[in-house]
Amino acid sequence: MYDSGKIIVGLIVGIGLLLFPFWPSAGKYSSKAPEPELTVKAKDAKACVESKTYMTTHHMKLLDAWRNEAVRQADRLYRSSSGKIYEKSLQNACMDCHANKSTFCDQCHNYMGVNPFCWDCHLEPKEST
Ligand code: HEC
Ligand code: HEC
Ligand code: HEC
Repeated sequence: MYDSGKIIVGLIVGIGLLLFPFWPSAGKYSSKAPEPELTVKAKDAKACVESKTYMTTHHMKLLDAWRNEAVRQADRLYRSSSGKIYEKSLQNACMDCHANKSTFCDQCHNYMGVNPFCWDCHLEPKEST
C-alpha cells in the first residue's frame, strides 16, 4: 500500500520548492495583488491598442515588436485588430494614455519583481501627484 499521507506532504513540499524562486519577491514587494489604475484619458479611450487580455499577457512582446519595426524598419504606424491606427511609440502611445506609470505599469512590475530598463533612456512621463 502507498502511504497517501506521505505522498501528499511530498507533493506540497515539492511544489513549495518549485515556487522557491518566487518567495523572495513575495516578501520584498507588497503582497497585495496589483491594481493598475487607468487615467481619465485611458478611461475616455475605453480600449487599449488590443484587447485587455492580450495586453495583460502580451504587452512586452508588442512593445518589443514595435521597437524593432519602428527603429529598424521605419515602420511607425500600427493598425490594431479593431482597425485603429496608433503610433508605434512607447512615449507617444502607451504613456500618453498610461501617463500614470507609478500607479499603472509599476503596480504590476513591482509586484512581479520585473524592472524594465526602458526608462534608462526613454523619458518617464511627468506625473502630477
Ligand atoms: C488610447 C489609450 C491607450 C493606449 C494608447 C494604450 N493603452 Fe493600454 N489600456 C488602455 C485602456 C482603456 C485599458 C483598459 C482596457 C479594458 O479594461 O478593457 C488598457 C489596458 C492595458 C493593460 C492591461 C491592464 C490590466 O489591468 O491588466 C496593459 C498591460 C496596457 N494597457 C499596456 C499598454 C501598453 C504597453 C501600451 C502601448 C503599447 C498601451 N497600453 C497603450 C488604454 C490605452
Ligand atoms: C497587469 C499587469 C501589468 C501592467 C499594467 C503592465 N505590465 Fe509590463 N509586465 C508585466 C509582467 C507580469 C511582466 C513580466 C513578464 C515576463 O517576465 O514574462 C511585464 C514585463 C514588461 C516588459 C518586459 C520587461 C523585461 O525585462 O522583460 C516591458 C517592457 C513592460 N512590461 C512594459 C510595460 C509598460 C510600459 C507598462 C505601462 C504602460 C506596463 N508594462 C504595464 C505586467 C504588467
Ligand atoms: C539604450 C537606450 C534605450 C533603452 C534602454 C530602450 N530604448 Fe527604446 N529607443 C531608444 C532609441 C534611441 C530609440 C529611437 C528613437 C526614435 O527613433 O524615435 C528607441 C525607440 C523605441 C521605440 C519606437 C519609437 C518610440 O518613440 O517609442 C519603442 C516602442 C521603444 N524604443 C521601446 C522600448 C522599450 C519597451 C524598452 C524597454 C524594454 C526600450 N525601448 C529601451 C533607446 C532605448
